[in-house]
Amino acid sequence: MEIFRTVAELRQWARNSRHAGHAIGLVPTMGALHAGHASLIRAARGSCGLVAVSIFVNPTQFGPNEDYNRYPRSFEADCALAKAEGAAVVFAPTVEELYPAGAATFVEVEGLSNRLDGASRPGHFRGVATVVAKLLIAAEADRAFFGQKDAAQVAVLRRMAADLRLEAEIVVCPIVREPDGLALSSRNLYLSPEERTRALALSRMIRQVEALAATGERRASALIEAARRIFAAEPAIRIDYIEVVNWATLEPVETAAPGTLFAVAAWVGATRLIDNTILA
Ligand code: PAF
Repeated sequence: MEIFRTVAELRQWARNSRHAGHAIGLVPTMGALHAGHASLIRAARGSCGLVAVSIFVNPTQFGPNEDYNRYPRSFEADCALAKAEGAAVVFAPTVEELYPAGAATFVEVEGLSNRLDGASRPGHFRGVATVVAKLLIAAEADRAFFGQKDAAQVAVLRRMAADLRLEAEIVVCPIVREPDGLALSSRNLYLSPEERTRALALSRMIRQVEALAATGERRASALIEAARRIFAAEPAIRIDYIEVVNWATLEPVETAAPGTLFAVAAWVGATRLIDNTILA
C-alpha cells in the first residue's frame, strides 16, 4: 500500500490506474478508523479495481468551538486497517496541501446545508462539500463511499455531485453497529463508560420508531412523539433534533413514505451523537 501526501502524487497514480483500466473507489475519512470505515473499504473493493482511503481531519467543517483540535488521530493504526482491508493507497495530505495559502474557493450546497446537522453546525456542510469535491477531483474517483450514519451529509454530497456534474457516483453503505446497538462513530471514543451506556438510548429509540412504523404508523408527529418519550426517561441526554424528512431534500414531511429519513442528534455529556433509519 502506498502513502501519498500530495495531490500531485494522488492524481498521477489515479491517471496511471485509470489508463490501466481500473475503476477507482475513494473512501474519504477523517481517520480514527473503525469497523464502519472497514465496511466502506470492503464495499469499495467489491466494486472498484483499486481503492484509495483519504485520511484528513478537515478544519473547515469544524465550528470555532468544536472538537477539531482534540479529534482522535491514530495514523499508524489507520494505515494498518486500510492495508488489511485491501486499500491500494492512503492519501494523507497536510492542511496546506488541500487549502493552499490564500485559498478562497468553497462549495456551498444551498438549502440542504442549513438543515439537520447544518442547522446546529453552521458552515459544517460547506466544509464537507468543499473537501469532498477536492478529494473526488484529485482522486479521479469513479465511486465514493459514505456511511448512512451521516445521512444528511449523504444528501448534501449527492446534490453537490449532481450539480457539479462530477463523474463520481456517491455510494451509501449501511450503518454498522456495536452488538448492543450503538452506531459506530469515531466520537464514541469521547464517551465515559457511563455515557456510553446512556448513549444506547439513541439506537433503542431508532428500533422503537422502526417497530412503530412497521405497525403502519406513518404520521411524522407520532413517530417524533414516540422518540421524545424514550428520551424523556433519559434526562442526561439533550436532544439537538429529531426529524422526519425527505432524504433527498432534507425537507420535513408530515407523512412518512418508503425511503423517508428519520434522524436524530443528541448530546450525551459533551459529545454530540447522531443516528437514523430509512423507513421501509
Ligand atoms: O464523514 C466524514 O468523516 C467527513 O465528513 C468526510 C466525508 C471525510 C469529509 O471530511
